[in-house]
Amino acid sequence: MARAYNFSPGPAMLPESVLLEARATMLEYGDAGASIVEISHRGAEFIDIAARAEADLRELLAIPADYAVLFLPGGATTQQALLPLNFAAPGQRADYVLTGHWGATATRQAAPYVDLNVAASSEADGYRSIPPVDQWKLSKDAAYVHVTANETIHGVEFRPSKPGGHAFPDTGDVPLFADFSSSIASEPVDIPRFGAIYAGAQKNLGPVGIGVVIVRRDLLARAGQPRADIFDYRLQLAADSMLNTPPTWNWYVAGLTFRWMLEQGGVEAFARRSDDKAGLLYAAIDGSGGFYRNEVDRAVRSRMNVPFFLHDPALDEAFLAQAREAGLIGLKGHRVTGGMRASIYNPMPLEGVQALVDLMQDFQRRHG
Ligand SMILES: Cc1ncc(COP(=O)(O)O)c(C=O)c1O
Repeated sequence: MARAYNFSPGPAMLPESVLLEARATMLEYGDAGASIVEISHRGAEFIDIAARAEADLRELLAIPADYAVLFLPGGATTQQALLPLNFAAPGQRADYVLTGHWGATATRQAAPYVDLNVAASSEADGYRSIPPVDQWKLSKDAAYVHVTANETIHGVEFRPSKPGGHAFPDTGDVPLFADFSSSIASEPVDIPRFGAIYAGAQKNLGPVGIGVVIVRRDLLARAGQPRADIFDYRLQLAADSMLNTPPTWNWYVAGLTFRWMLEQGGVEAFARRSDDKAGLLYAAIDGSGGFYRNEVDRAVRSRMNVPFFLHDPALDEAFLAQAREAGLIGLKGHRVTGGMRASIYNPMPLEGVQALVDLMQDFQRRHG
């Protein structure tokens, strides 16, 4: 099978040019005399790679100077545990807004360290919506408010730029923390609205194994809780995210991906492309006369992850088999929800989504 259109939720599709460049440097990086995976993180080559990656990410996301950028090993779940350790006093209140599976995961990581308040949750409606902000029960003394910008499994996204979409709340003096794992760099984000933004790289930023934390520098003055050095954001920042041996390969490939996104026109270009791709797919689902359905409140439908169900789950396996035959992979829905899910991150071209829509229509003709 040639390279397929890969709708996998993460690890996810990477741009072919990034993979080709990574392949070329796998044997020898520049004139280093060794592979990129064999050279020291303390050497001039990697120091340069790390600095370029940060500079490119700052340009891509328009990160202001008063925000620090950390590149840390592990994924988003690790950061979900480190946020309370770094920014909440022991047992201090922290507000969490649950709009899907990953918000709930974040509460489980934080629960041992904070007085956890679920300020709002759409669990009762199966995570198909975002509760209106005026119904959130926020605490004045919270260390922070945590939201999930895009819920990868349930396909629910805060849509500040969409008329009628759900904006991020103004939380006043309490900093807003957001898990942007599955939507970072897919549209412009007003960073100063947030105290901290974090993301695992394996969806829109690069390969799995590294995460990015963008945090307002003044928050790093908080004492947080007793923790090992390796879990301390302040110490990581002082060590340029190299308190220990960092995941150099992942960092390097993430850097290639940042560069690719800049060359493609940056987040404004990806915002337009994402709207086109998601618009095409939702139109096909909604126009199928009920053969396919998406159950999420239209105002907060995700542009990145489109879950959908066939009208008869007995057809699921046949759909996936025909998709694979047509060169479309990674469409099986998460085990929590079942059904299908198409993840259409930045590297997925419009042609890939068109191929999926063609397949859906052909499958409906055969089985409708
Ligand atoms: C929004 C979101 N948050 C957190 C996670 C967990 O990330 P990781 O597996 O990198 O810890 C995921 C993984 O899919 C995710 O989509």
